[in-house]
Amino acid sequence: MYDLRSDTFTKPTEAMRKAMYNAEVGDDVYGEDPTAEKLQRIAEEITGKERSLIVSSGCMGNLIPLMIKGGRGMEVLTSGYSHIVNHEIGAVASLSGTLPVIIPSDYGIMTAEEIEKHIHGYAYDMSESAIIETENTTSGIVYPLEELRKIRKTAKEHSLWVHMDGARIFNASVETGISVKDYADTASDITFCLSKGLGCPAFSILSGDRDFIEKAKRIRKLLGGGMRQIGIFAAAGIYALENNIARLKDDHEHRAAISKALERSGWADVAISSTNMIFFNSSYPMDNIVNAFRKKGVLFLKEGEMGRIVLSLNINDEDTDAIVKIIDSTNIEEFS
Ligand SMILES: Cc1ncc(COP(=O)(O)O)c(C=O)c1O
Repeated sequence: MYDLRSDTFTKPTEAMRKAMYNAEVGDDVYGEDPTAEKLQRIAEEITGKERSLIVSSGCMGNLIPLMIKGGRGMEVLTSGYSHIVNHEIGAVASLSGTLPVIIPSDYGIMTAEEIEKHIHGYAYDMSESAIIETENTTSGIVYPLEELRKIRKTAKEHSLWVHMDGARIFNASVETGISVKDYADTASDITFCLSKGLGCPAFSILSGDRDFIEKAKRIRKLLGGGMRQIGIFAAAGIYALENNIARLKDDHEHRAAISKALERSGWADVAISSTNMIFFNSSYPMDNIVNAFRKKGVLFLKEGEMGRIVLSLNINDEDTDAIVKIIDSTNIEEFS
């Protein structure tokens, strides 16, 4: 099976498992896990933020800033494509109590100009703008750095916090050559995932200033995310940051090859093709297309009415060639 469902399906390699096996560990709730501490220091170097904290998942990395800077009566300005709005069981509202305000956007890329139209300060009968949430990449698309800088400037002018969901920030960085630090500079805090394209079994990192991360540590505990000998997983994170970033470029090349095959297929209309993701429409029922490809050993998902393909270290050069051949030889009769 060629698994194109998500980069979350990546599995730790033998080398990563060895690093995990050899990890020095301690009780992280007491701050005594040396490998977890090391990973957090590396994350600080990468993001340029004062402090970093390991969190159990990307969802937790998004929820904690909402709980610290949002809350009842407060608003987070975000796009209608964002993960916090669509794929986190409404935790933005149900757990943090923050009201998501949807900013019209082009496939998740908001502009500072559009955001500014929706910002408002205190009024006795209105919820108050508190946070701007950017997602980079969003549906695989990289935010233009200049726009992110404008968004941060707008946020500063209105004393708003900027949270960046950088679950796939390394895909953005590898694609553009812009450092993660430069992207992180456009946000007050940033979270990134180790368990997606970087190939770790678990964990995300949340980075921000000292005061914010101190508060984040308490909220992590509140949410049941204080864990003990996490160095075993942190070692996977260190391995990934040292070995698995540059190779994301391969995923992007594989995406481009598969995207080209879809474009010439005659039955797929590619809407988004960027970094490691493809979204495409078709005049044929997407369920039938997904099923037809499943029978040929190619797995991908339907999201809304679109087909969604995600490249990761599950797919190498030979796999890509094989998938391209399968697409090239697919006949529309197979979709009926
Ligand atoms: C953009 C984005 N943010 C956050 C998350 C949440 O990550 P997790 O599944 O680790 O909670 C995901 C997961 O796919 C994601 O795609």
